[in-house]
Amino acid sequence: MDPLLNFSNKVILISGASSGLGKALAQALAQRGAKLVLGDINEAGLEMTAAKLREQGCEVITRRSDVAKEADSKALVEAATGQWGRLDMAVNNAGVPQSFIPLEEIDEAVIDQQFNVNVKGVLYALKHQIPMMRKQGEGAILNVSSMAGLCGSPKLAAYSAAKHGVIGLTKTAAVENARYNIRVNAICPFFTLTPMVLDMELAKDKSIEDVTAFLAQGSPMKRLGKPEEVVNVMLMMLSPLNTYMTGQAIALDGGVSAL
Ligand SMILES: NC(=O)c1ccc[n+]([C@@H]2O[C@H](COP(=O)([O-])OP(=O)(O)OC[C@H]3O[C@@H](n4cnc5c(N)ncnc54)[C@H](O)[C@@H]3O)[C@@H](O)[C@H]2O)c1
Repeated sequence: MDPLLNFSNKVILISGASSGLGKALAQALAQRGAKLVLGDINEAGLEMTAAKLREQGCEVITRRSDVAKEADSKALVEAATGQWGRLDMAVNNAGVPQSFIPLEEIDEAVIDQQFNVNVKGVLYALKHQIPMMRKQGEGAILNVSSMAGLCGSPKLAAYSAAKHGVIGLTKTAAVENARYNIRVNAICPFFTLTPMVLDMELAKDKSIEDVTAFLAQGSPMKRLGKPEEVVNVMLMMLSPLNTYMTGQAIALDGGVSAL
């Protein structure tokens, strides 16, 4: 296997692994030899993901894990260390969307959910992943932000603020831990065809083509991202040979940020 994409025997934690990008990344890492620790609040989905991976010979453990709860984040790290004695990489991917709504109409429950899951979820994860990586003297963490974390995002104010928060956490954790050989980066995808987008309110009763066309209007490529396109860049960012990149928030957006 090309050493750039060889994850053999790497112990890798992924949150939000029962669906979308987390599930697709788990499959890609399993094909490349990783041992996986998968968390999600959707236990049934998690078990379906894990069953497929085990059929392919991947060693995988699963935990029902709510990233908004610090104890769950700690337990997910302990699941990795309990089973394999180490945690090489972590992908803090779990996230929740926000319905499209003007800023002045957002209610407190939406704001709380965005900050509890999308911001605190990443903070708790980093808090418990980093000490293990420091003990080992190495590690790589990939946080999943969004283009909404880099740009203003009309009608997505709370989501945009939360995903900007993920980038702040990424840069801070990167600077604090660079001397310990721990890399921390964030990926910032534009709209990607996962259940998060396909289940959106505006996608109800519409064909995939209509949803894609609507959301892709402002994109130079005039299309949304495909999950596998995001996963390919995740693999490159996590690569064991990508040893000098840290503190970066990488846009994956079909050219949106170049406009
Ligand atoms: N799809 C997109 O257009 C897009 C674009 C930019 C960023 N993202 C980000 O990518 C990440 C993955 O999203 P996706 O598109 O695969 O969506 P998805 O809805 O398919 O997957 C999200 C997963 O996170 C899980 N989850 C939700 N809340 C959780 C919690 N509190 N604890 C643990 N797990 C929880 C869900 O059960 C689900 O399995 C998210 O952080 C999302 O914000 C998605």
